[in-house]
Amino acid sequence: MLFNSSPLRVVTLLALSGDAYAFFRIGCSRILDGRVDSIISPGKVSGHVHTLVGSANIGVSSTYDTLVNSECTSCEIQDDRSAYWSPQLYYQYGNGSVMEVPHDGSVLYYIARGAGQTPMTAFPEGLKMLSGDAAARSYDNKTMTFNNKTFGGRPVADRISWACLSTKPARETPGFSNFICPYGLRAQVHFQSCWDGVNLYKSDQSHVAYLSQIDNGVCPPTYPVLLPHLFIETSYATKNVAVEPNGFYTLAQGDPTGYGYHADFQNGWKPGVLQDAIDECFIADSSGDVGTCAPLNVSQISNTAYQCPRRPQVIAENVYGLLPKLPGCNQISWGPARAPTTNNTCPTSVAVPAILPTADTKPIATQIPTISSAFGNTGWRYKGCYNDTGNARALSVYNQQNVADLTIEKCQRTCQGRGMKFSGVELGNQCWCDNYIMNNARAIGEGRANCNFKCSGDSTENCGGAAQLSIFENVLAVTPAPVVVQSLSGKYLYKGCQKEGTSSRALTGAKQAADTMTVDACAKICLGLKFRWMGVEYGRECYCGNSLNSGGTAPATECNMRCMGNTNKTAMYCGGSSRLNVYYSSSL
Ligand SMILES: *[C@@H]1O[C@H](CO)[C@@H](O)[C@H](O)[C@H]1NC(C)=O
Ligand SMILES: *[C@@H]1O[C@H](CO)[C@@H](O)[C@H](O)[C@H]1NC(C)=O
Ligand SMILES: *[C@@H]1O[C@H](CO)[C@@H](O)[C@H](O)[C@H]1NC(C)=O
Ligand SMILES: *[C@@H]1O[C@H](CO)[C@@H](O)[C@H](O)[C@H]1NC(C)=O
Ligand SMILES: *[C@@H]1O[C@H](CO)[C@@H](O)[C@H](O)[C@H]1NC(C)=O
Ligand SMILES: *[C@@H]1O[C@H](CO)[C@@H](O)[C@H](O)[C@H]1NC(C)=O
Ligand SMILES: *[C@@H]1O[C@H](CO)[C@@H](O)[C@H](O)[C@H]1NC(C)=O
Repeated sequence: MLFNSSPLRVVTLLALSGDAYAFFRIGCSRILDGRVDSIISPGKVSGHVHTLVGSANIGVSSTYDTLVNSECTSCEIQDDRSAYWSPQLYYQYGNGSVMEVPHDGSVLYYIARGAGQTPMTAFPEGLKMLSGDAAARSYDNKTMTFNNKTFGGRPVADRISWACLSTKPARETPGFSNFICPYGLRAQVHFQSCWDGVNLYKSDQSHVAYLSQIDNGVCPPTYPVLLPHLFIETSYATKNVAVEPNGFYTLAQGDPTGYGYHADFQNGWKPGVLQDAIDECFIADSSGDVGTCAPLNVSQISNTAYQCPRRPQVIAENVYGLLPKLPGCNQISWGPARAPTTNNTCPTSVAVPAILPTADTKPIATQIPTISSAFGNTGWRYKGCYNDTGNARALSVYNQQNVADLTIEKCQRTCQGRGMKFSGVELGNQCWCDNYIMNNARAIGEGRANCNFKCSGDSTENCGGAAQLSIFENVLAVTPAPVVVQSLSGKYLYKGCQKEGTSSRALTGAKQAADTMTVDACAKICLGLKFRWMGVEYGRECYCGNSLNSGGTAPATECNMRCMGNTNKTAMYCGGSSRLNVYYSSSL
């Protein structure tokens, strides 16, 4: 996500008051893709594919009430259940097939513009609006915003632009350019900031108007209510799609020029929150950080793509990857004239794909397990949230990653089926199994910020987090006995679990420590240096010497740390805390 970009690069001519540059920005991941547009095509399959961010239950029939009641939003601020969408970008090959250019995150900028004239008012409940013109195929420099002698206007077409992201500063153009954009192509759209104060929606968008300078200036007199200025950047990962000599980018409605970019906003802010944020957080030296805005940070989450992941499609139609053509009936129109409506209307003979129910319409409580209590399948208990940041993984014998339908129960089954006692879920979509928890793993607590990613297969369960494992233990499973290696390389023979020396280390000839340590690895080191004694300690340390200054023999159970380099089902032991598994060679 592009949190570093500034919304201020569009030159502003008027700074009407000291707080003209105050803003906050909200990062979003995508929540849905498909021919969904509850504003333009309510209750129906829309004409072209959109990529949507925001409220998790956005569907073809969404209203303010359904949005506000969704389970979560894929934008950082959970009290903003609005939905924001724009056309999907495709790349059309010379042979006519099209490839999805993946949505790569959106950033919403809420900006205090046009301030100093009237108080700024939050979006009213139920407000919907669309900015841009899907049929445009060239830059219209004639249609101007509201202007008069004091306040100059600007071409309305400036509401949209494209930024090419490369190593050079972003280059902006009103349509697609032929620049190479390895870091992505970013669509940018300004919304109307002036409201007539009466209508929540009119299909010709005449209920709202642009500021005289679009991103600043004054409202027309017939639009007396100043709204926060909404500016959205949406990035498309152009690097994922190799270009071809006869290929070109096209928006989902058949626009290969980029001038037809547009975006929709359907308000779903919880009552009062946006107004509080406007009143308290639009301050002059704002860095745009929502984390410092008290009305917003109470509902801020990070890692939206995991905590409120993308929803299953609500239109039964594939819109991802390589497709034979643009979904729907969208013919390419090169312009410069506006695209005729006949070029994106389906004949009645074309079958309309089914509309599926949205996944959630009501908030669903997350089931939070408590430590030591039963959770999931028979015999399994919750052990806790553990860190998994080290080179040696907390559970390491078996794992599955990018599991699309992961649940805690599914991972428990997977591990049980492989004869293992511990199962751990991580990053929402990974399952890890082992018979032992690696000695370096730490229980990091059950706080709100820990192990809070939704399971990819069940949004009512949490499956760990980033480098965090929710670990479960099957108390009915028998742990295989730890294995102490008795003989190594035909040279060293096991001499028991020994205490560290009291005044000096037990073995002082040479030492090494690594997360990849095994008994074998230590034997190679000491053998290479021709030391008679070797010992492994603390799961990851190797000591060699020609004499052993042990603090005495210790019970075998005190050499209870697993070798961190050992990632197979049989746990090899490498000493313990101040305890060494010691080996001796009589032939050296
Ligand atoms: C069209 O070209 C693309 C890219 O070269 C290729 O991946 C795709 O398979 C081709 N489609 C057909 C139907 O041949
Ligand atoms: C508008 O665009 C046309 C065609 O490119 C150009 O000739 C004209 O000078 C432009 N007008 C303004 C006011 O920029
Ligand atoms: C221009 O419009 C603004 C906003 O409606 C208004 O306050 C101002 O008086 C107008 N100026 C002129 C010269 O008409
Ligand atoms: C939220 O913002 C307020 C005001 O800046 C700050 O005092 C508070 O510590 C923030 N809370 C969090 C959880 O970041
Ligand atoms: C409409 O689509 C057809 C088929 O792709 C194309 O040949 C034609 O130029 C399009 N019309 C316009 C005005 O762009
Ligand atoms: C857990 O964190 C500690 C540091 O706090 C680190 O030394 C250890 O390697 C980590 N363990 C795992 C399994 O990530
Ligand atoms: C398990 O790992 C240890 C140490 O890396 C190795 O000696 C042993 O042969 C391995 N066992 C199996 C079954 O792979």
